[in-house]
Amino acid sequence: MSNSAVILAAGKGVRMRSAYPKAVHKVAGLPMIKHVVQTVLEAGIEDIVVVVGHGREYVQQALAGVKVDFAVQEQQLGTGHALRQAEARVSRADTVLVLPGDIPLIQSDTLAHLLKHHQESQAAATVLSALVTAPFGYGRIIRNPDQSLRRIVEEKDASPEQRLIGEINSGVYCFQSRQVFPRLAGLTTSNVQGEYYLTDVVTMLINDGYTVGVVVCEDSSDVLGVNDRVQMAHCEAVLRQRKNISLMQSGVTMIAPETVFIDKDVIIGEDTIIRPNTVIEGHTVIGADCDIGPSTRITNSVIGRKVIIESARIIDSQVGDQSAIGPFAYLRPGTRLGKGVKVGDFVEVKNSTVGEGSKIPHLSYVGDAQVGRGVNIGAGTITCNYDGANKYPTFLEDGVFIGSNTNLVAPVRIGRNAVTGAGSTITRDVPEENLAVERAQQKNIKGWSRKTKQDQEVTDQ
Ligand code: UD1
Ligand code: CA
Repeated sequence: MSNSAVILAAGKGVRMRSAYPKAVHKVAGLPMIKHVVQTVLEAGIEDIVVVVGHGREYVQQALAGVKVDFAVQEQQLGTGHALRQAEARVSRADTVLVLPGDIPLIQSDTLAHLLKHHQESQAAATVLSALVTAPFGYGRIIRNPDQSLRRIVEEKDASPEQRLIGEINSGVYCFQSRQVFPRLAGLTTSNVQGEYYLTDVVTMLINDGYTVGVVVCEDSSDVLGVNDRVQMAHCEAVLRQRKNISLMQSGVTMIAPETVFIDKDVIIGEDTIIRPNTVIEGHTVIGADCDIGPSTRITNSVIGRKVIIESARIIDSQVGDQSAIGPFAYLRPGTRLGKGVKVGDFVEVKNSTVGEGSKIPHLSYVGDAQVGRGVNIGAGTITCNYDGANKYPTFLEDGVFIGSNTNLVAPVRIGRNAVTGAGSTITRDVPEENLAVERAQQKNIKGWSRKTKQDQEVTDQ
């Protein structure tokens, strides 16, 4: 049996009130459409066609690097019309799974169960439904007295009695291709919205005497559709909670999970503790036994094992095992810290490598630098890497000791085990094992008495 999936994402999503198509709005760090694509892949379907139309360049961009094909629906004439645009691409598959691009909570187990049920029952179509307490806006499942499916009625076409039905159409279906595609051409727009409804194909199949099954989704939150930003925030909360629960179940401690926001693709090792108000984003990987937070935000970074991070902002960086970051540290893109490195309070590091065991404990800026092993950078040290036009590198070789408040005017190289005196502005290279001091001589003036307020008043008169 060959399976393909078609994801419908050509609609504008008017209720989002946005310049961008609905499918690209991010939920838990990922565009909605990407959640749906990932879930379809997890369910074991690799042949995926996404129907795009409104703002299609944004949707294609959101899926860059993902193995999907696109079919274009120039005008959004309805879900039935949308599926038709993918016909040429998927009609050879035995089964076509169709789903909307705006249900980011859908889970792969649900899809796999629907697919299995559909194929085992040999139905012409199988609809995924759900029982909800607030069915407003959804199509309703109308059943015959013997409980078999009669038809699907859209909210806007439904009678007052039909609107009381709590079983809704999720918009997710399995179809036998050879049954669905020939019927799409026969759809009409004789409904309140004047659209080609995919749901009408279901009625056609039933009228033609085919079996159409219904699988009721166990967890109705799976099929929650996002039509506006209120529903989007609700989905966000559900996805965050799911991610936190799965991390906790895999051995991560969370002190206050309701204050922790972790994107779907983040990986965290066993026995790591995540403290309150922590945000971990993108493709971040964190090792085992770390202590992260409180008040930390990490984006697209790789953190080793046994790392301590407190009140820090870390972007596109790598942190070696047993390092300690913060409080109040800022690691900017291109920072690569070796094992056992300390980056302490009010320190900013950018596009720099720092070798094993080196320390930048307080109040420093290190940019475009290559720092060796066992280097100590005193409080207040600044790499002066920018002359207003160009950036230059600073090299601190192994064992260097930089005195407090040193300005390192790049390009500059401090040789192995060299030392700089506190307060020096270093403009020339320092050979290894040398001490470099650059400071005005201190003058001590004898018998100097400080002016008082009274002296001041006398001179003012
Ligand atoms: C649809 C179903 C409804 C179901 C609901 C579940 C129909 C007629 N109705 O209604 O029974 O309860 O989904 O969420 O199918 N799309 C296109 N091209 C179009 C129109 C829509 O690609 O011309 C896409 C949209 O981008 C969206 C999906 O299809 O991802 C669903 O469209 P939407 O307009 O949200 O349908 P609903 O009115 O919610
Ligand atoms: Ca919808």
